[in-house]
Amino acid sequence: MAILELLKADHAKVKSLLEETLGTEDATQRSQLIKQIKTDLTAHSHAEEKVLYRRMEKSEEGKDEALEGDVEHELVLLLCDQLARSRSKGSDPWTARCSVLKELIEHHVEEEEGEFFKTARRLFDRPTLQRMGNEFIKEKSRLGVAPAAEAAE
Ligand SMILES: [Fe+2]
Ligand SMILES: [Fe+2]
Repeated sequence: MAILELLKADHAKVKSLLEETLGTEDATQRSQLIKQIKTDLTAHSHAEEKVLYRRMEKSEEGKDEALEGDVEHELVLLLCDQLARSRSKGSDPWTARCSVLKELIEHHVEEEEGEFFKTARRLFDRPTLQRMGNEFIKEKSRLGVAPAAEAAE
């Protein structure tokens, strides 16, 4: 599977996990869900940076997008870490922080699937995107997480 489809499937999965998290006030359930989100996001961001961003960065066209993407990943992972460490997962401040995480991710994904993907399709041909897909799967698996599209098969 080509990398862009793999990324899209991961994005859809994390969005639905976040909705599930915000849909419950049960601290134990939230705790399990945020832990899963954190593991998924850490592996996804790392593999995405390594396989896609570092390649985009090499061209004038993709450089700024890749660098901005790095910063957004940092912020997303920071919020996620704070949420996972918090001892009051059933509280209103926790809900507020989780809502901001969801908004940030939605913004990031919208940019990624819009502008980034357009740039990537211009920079890389189909066989290259396919190869990058294999690399993405390998990289994520190395971190112990199966891509959402693979797990669904
Ligand atoms: Fe992504
Ligand atoms: Fe990303």
